[in-house]
Amino acid sequence: MRRIGLTATAIAVALGGGAYLAKSAVSKPTAKPLVGVATVTPVPLPTGPDYPVPQVKIDAWIVAGDTTAIRGHAWSLWQAMAAPSGQFFNGQELPIWETWATGDDVFPTSSAALKAAGAPRAATLAARLARPRAIRHFRTPNQFHHAALRSGALKNGSILGVSSSTVTTKFSPEAATFIDTPQPGPGGTYNYSSGASLLKLNAAWPTSATPEQRGINPFPVQGVELKPVYGVVKATGLTIQPLWQGPAGSTRPSNPTPDTWTTCVLISPTGTGPVRPATKAEIASAGPPGACTTFLWAPLSTFYAVRLSASEAKEFATATGKPVAQGDYAVLQAMHVNTKEIPFWTWQTFWWQPGADTPNGFPGSKQNQPASLGAPWNNYAACAAYSQTTTVGGSTMQVCFNPYLETDPSIPVGITSNCMSCHGVAVVGQGATYPSNYNKPIAFFTDPTYFTTQNTHTDFSWAVADAQ
Ligand code: HEC
Repeated sequence: MRRIGLTATAIAVALGGGAYLAKSAVSKPTAKPLVGVATVTPVPLPTGPDYPVPQVKIDAWIVAGDTTAIRGHAWSLWQAMAAPSGQFFNGQELPIWETWATGDDVFPTSSAALKAAGAPRAATLAARLARPRAIRHFRTPNQFHHAALRSGALKNGSILGVSSSTVTTKFSPEAATFIDTPQPGPGGTYNYSSGASLLKLNAAWPTSATPEQRGINPFPVQGVELKPVYGVVKATGLTIQPLWQGPAGSTRPSNPTPDTWTTCVLISPTGTGPVRPATKAEIASAGPPGACTTFLWAPLSTFYAVRLSASEAKEFATATGKPVAQGDYAVLQAMHVNTKEIPFWTWQTFWWQPGADTPNGFPGSKQNQPASLGAPWNNYAACAAYSQTTTVGGSTMQVCFNPYLETDPSIPVGITSNCMSCHGVAVVGQGATYPSNYNKPIAFFTDPTYFTTQNTHTDFSWAVADAQ
């Protein structure tokens, strides 16, 4: 299934295991063309004392307001997911999380994308995962087009507008299998990867079923869902990457999307060394500054980075409306991570933050990172929100969002948001709207604004709620 690339520039610089090292690990060019699909076997997160953590223990952290323990767990998940998997793609050893099924593998409606990547769709998830497949997809975030998706004006995975960053969704083997396995429900079994089947489930509840009872079966404890966000760094020259410095470091503090950030980093694909102020010559060579007024310089090795094949580059170019070529790098800017270790899931998010933390550590920081967390993974900051409020039963909301995602104007008051509040209102059927604000916690699954006898809640999974 290997696809022949446009070979003139196909200098496959194999990052190899070096992607996990602090150095800029550029090794000898090889003649191998970059491929868009390969056989990659999903690797589960290893279990042990740190994963999955028993519910009683996490609940005790929440009750005690033990942010150090909660952040420690977020970092431990991040480190475990980043561990080398023994699986390779374009000569580069993949971290465990990259081996996982994408939304396109799990949800059958995205078959067009799979076909485009060169793999006709197999009937079962197991067969799809056994074939050469694309392990990442570069799309504009559905999260920004939620209303259009729900009204049917937009099909899942299609392109509406462009976005400077792109996302994939990823599911741990346990989560993917759960979504793919027929699930018992009222009067029969249902397939949670099919919008049609979910609508049947929604219609099948007996009239006596309360809004609270009308929910899909819970995901397994080792269910993990991810939303990685990627940007591009060109293979040559310096590429501008905005750097999160809080809402004050944006020309639009209420909706501080990355294109409004005023501090930027010029990324060198070949350079080495620490983050430092950029020189005048470097700034002049980097192209139009956009909103950037303060410039730093950093090497590519501050990111988790992968080289793009021709088909991946094409997908990226379509989503961003910018030229992206084979051999350019997709760089991991951010990632949402949720785990089903507790019934309402654990919620943490990570974003690129080389060098120092933001001045006020909002909405998170690199604090509590384990010393053993290597580069590039220690160049990311995190926030975690394992409950809606900072104290159990309290009224102060626990704010946690990703500067690359929830700053978008399509998301109401995203910079005051709480992951669980928005995901908890994910339903099949009527009333699937985002919370209009985060002034108080939402009563799952009884608040009549969101939970009715006309809809079915989907265990905090918007991916399932929005299945087509
Ligand atoms: C305003 C609503 C909203 C907020 C706030 C929000 N999300 Fe989401 N999220 C969505 C929607 C809608 C999707 C599905 C569409 C997509 O893939 O973009 C999604 C997708 C995801 C996914 C992929 C799996 C799934 O359920 O679809 C993960 C993981 C995720 N979000 C985690 C988080 C985390 C962690 C936070 C907080 C830091 C967060 N989300 C905040 C709306 C939200």
